[in-house]
Amino acid sequence: MDSFFKWFLLAFLQYMACLKAVDAQFPRPCTTVEALQTRTCCPLWNGSPCGFSSGRGVCAPHPARDLPKPIDYRVNWPRAFYDSVCTCWGNYDGFDCSQCLPGWRGPQCLQRHHVEKKEITDLTDSERETFLSNLHTAKDVQSDRYMILKSNDTTVDRNYEFQNTSVYNLYVWMHYYSAKSYAGSGNNAAHRGPAFVFWHRVFLLFIEREIRDLTGNQDFYIPYWDWTRTDNCNICTNKYFGGVRQDGRIDSASRFSQWKTICPFQESLGIICLNTNASEAAHLIRNPGKDPVFKTLPTAADVKDAMASQLFDTPPYDTTSKNSFRNKLEGFEIPSDSRRLNSSMHNLVHRYLNGTMSLVPTAANDPIFMLHHSFIDNFIYVAPNSTKLFLGTSTEKIQHMNNHKQLWKETKLPFEWKKPLQNQAQGWWLSAALVGVRGYEERREQDKQIDSLRQKKKERARETSSKTKRDNG
Ligand SMILES: *[C@@H]1O[C@H](CO)[C@@H](O)[C@H](O)[C@H]1NC(C)=O
Ligand SMILES: *[C@@H]1O[C@H](CO)[C@@H](O)[C@H](O)[C@H]1NC(C)=O
Ligand SMILES: *[C@@H]1O[C@H](CO)[C@@H](O)[C@H](O)[C@H]1NC(C)=O
Ligand SMILES: *[C@@H]1O[C@H](CO)[C@@H](O)[C@H](O)[C@H]1NC(C)=O
Ligand SMILES: *[C@@H]1O[C@H](CO)[C@@H](O)[C@H](O)[C@H]1NC(C)=O
Ligand SMILES: *[C@@H]1O[C@H](CO)[C@@H](O)[C@H](O)[C@H]1NC(C)=O
Repeated sequence: MDSFFKWFLLAFLQYMACLKAVDAQFPRPCTTVEALQTRTCCPLWNGSPCGFSSGRGVCAPHPARDLPKPIDYRVNWPRAFYDSVCTCWGNYDGFDCSQCLPGWRGPQCLQRHHVEKKEITDLTDSERETFLSNLHTAKDVQSDRYMILKSNDTTVDRNYEFQNTSVYNLYVWMHYYSAKSYAGSGNNAAHRGPAFVFWHRVFLLFIEREIRDLTGNQDFYIPYWDWTRTDNCNICTNKYFGGVRQDGRIDSASRFSQWKTICPFQESLGIICLNTNASEAAHLIRNPGKDPVFKTLPTAADVKDAMASQLFDTPPYDTTSKNSFRNKLEGFEIPSDSRRLNSSMHNLVHRYLNGTMSLVPTAANDPIFMLHHSFIDNFIYVAPNSTKLFLGTSTEKIQHMNNHKQLWKETKLPFEWKKPLQNQAQGWWLSAALVGVRGYEERREQDKQIDSLRQKKKERARETSSKTKRDNG
């Protein structure tokens, strides 16, 4: 098998494997004193923890509970907060097993949910209106499922404070919270390494599902912005995400001019976003093309260059990796013909917009972020040999999650897949946990626990039935 494809497949499977079990933070029911004191995050579904009596899942000890308590409490998630969380069975998902895995729908999550994504400018008027109105709803409406962390005072155990958040701001905060460097190192869990692609995929799947649940529009999806079709920010107009004023603010005729940003600082102390008070926070800023160093968007040639890579990622698996599909896609590895300065592909689009989008901690405040990442995500759906096909038809349909459960069932993960991810593996697992996903090791451990629980249940059933037989006989 071609090595790139092999890598792609392994990485993809790794992601699929991880998607299975869920412990997203901070579920509102788990922010109570009781949940924090008992260190248990197993909310009720249909009257029983994790929907156990409905066969949805089980409240199980989290493997990380045996690890030492971390200084940075994102580490060994959710060790700093909870010992037991829900493990969902079948296609059930969510912190309380109330949701379906991405790609599934229906009361028992047994129906395939296949979405074909469109490019934003290809949406019909009514599709665009629905999309934008669902986004505004997410920005305005308080999440009834989650809260965000307000204080980081861990000097006294359980002395945490949580605050309400809108669904959209929850997503902004999650990006901020994961993207900050951790444990004194310059690394972060979501960028500058192999986790980049998968972290952001999970992130988009998360917000898509939250917005579906919030609005009841089960067909909601995040369209993509194909910036190779244009040489300017063609969606920076009031028809889409708002025209830009001379001072970088959004045109007041656009509803996005009223969007307030949260966590607006490039760097702040600690892990907690110091300014989550929306009434004090800043507005969206965009100056597309104004920075003379980053004045153009990436081109189809840049895409072609990235897609020509033979390897998913290469040592040392960071911003200095060479011949790395990931590093080219992320935009630290610059095309060899020097068309670009320090930034290309993913990074260049951020820098080009010169404002909220160009600073990692603030970027997700701008709704263009999700469209940009939806396009970036597309490149890992497209196997390397399909590059030509993709470039040839920019209306290429982008497929959503499909059939991953089957893949997981039928394929055994070779152990080696972990090696290249080593230096970001922890970061990946942790940040994945932030959006409700667990690492492979943890998952395997949990599978064992679940198997043994099921075994016990079966044995008990057998005992009961033979007892019943005896009693009857
Ligand atoms: C990609 O194309 C090359 C040459 O055309 C072929 O040898 C290789 O097997 C293909 N890889 C996959 C994964 O299809
Ligand atoms: C969060 O919102 C709920 C419902 O609107 C309210 O009862 C609660 O007091 C709020 N909590 C905080 C910490 O603001
Ligand atoms: C908590 O936040 C404060 C700033 O408010 C910071 O000084 C401190 O280092 C942070 N503590 C941790 C454990 O992150
Ligand atoms: C947010 O800021 C406003 C204006 O400064 C202030 O009145 C309000 O009390 C703040 N809210 C919180 C929760 O800090
Ligand atoms: C925007 O561009 C200017 C140069 O025109 C640059 O100095 C500034 O750092 C950029 N701002 C952001 C947020 O990228
Ligand atoms: C590129 O990066 C180098 C070092 O990281 C820096 O010194 C230089 O100013 C950067 N150039 C541009 C155009 O940003």
